[in-house]
Amino acid sequence: MLHELQAASTHLLGHGIVEPEIGVILGTGLGNRFVKEIKNPITIHYNSIPHFPIATVEHHKGKLVYGTLKGKKIIAMQGRFHYYEGYSMQQITLPVRVMKMLGVKRLLISNAAGNLNPKWKKGQLMLIDDHINLQPDNPLRGENFEVLGPRFPDMSRPYDKSMNKKLTSIARKLDIKLNEGVYVGVMGPNLETRAEYRFLRMIGADAVGMSTIPEVLVANHMSLPCCAISALTDDCDPDDLKPTNLSEIVTVAAKAESKLTDLLIGLIKAL
Ligand code: HPA
Repeated sequence: MLHELQAASTHLLGHGIVEPEIGVILGTGLGNRFVKEIKNPITIHYNSIPHFPIATVEHHKGKLVYGTLKGKKIIAMQGRFHYYEGYSMQQITLPVRVMKMLGVKRLLISNAAGNLNPKWKKGQLMLIDDHINLQPDNPLRGENFEVLGPRFPDMSRPYDKSMNKKLTSIARKLDIKLNEGVYVGVMGPNLETRAEYRFLRMIGADAVGMSTIPEVLVANHMSLPCCAISALTDDCDPDDLKPTNLSEIVTVAAKAESKLTDLLIGLIKAL
């Protein structure tokens, strides 16, 4: 694996991706405006990067965009890899490890998630304060490479306190409602049943999604501070559940994108 990380990093360095400071992972329907804000962009499609997972139909647009934003060197992933697509946990988290190898000091993550909290509504945002991992595998399973991080990484605070504090204060200034809560990660690809949503509420989750946690585990393993924001795309009320599909999720995410982008740009400026 170390060899693969090296090969991917060397390739990207050779294409002008030099000393990025901030890594950004953009979730479903959440990246278009953000990427447009990047100045002097260098775009590299996942397909052309050694050892990046082979792109599926879903990823024909998947790319890394490098450039500057608010004077900071940014590397953004437009489109991420999910476990439900059939990749291994190590494959879907490889880009995060490569970003760290290239020099990234902080990781900003976004995702689309189902809203489990009855006090909130779809279309709003949630800052992830903590998570529950219900995914059936772990990117840190297997041989541990001490050069990357410890065998048993601490998870007492997986989301960086100071970035979260900054985001809360930026949201207040911009008059954006930013809920705060617990994200539960599931494998998918199916959405949940009413009984499953009821269960997820009972165990203390506020939002449910199929991504993010593997990336956060790998980031914490490497002592890479990270933060994550969910765009709540559907209300998961077990007593009044409406059918949902991807196109509705993408439509609601697109509506939340503008607020989310304002928060991310505000944070990048403040870092
Ligand atoms: N469940 C799981 N993942 C999701 C959902 C959901 O309801 N909405 C968006 N991503």
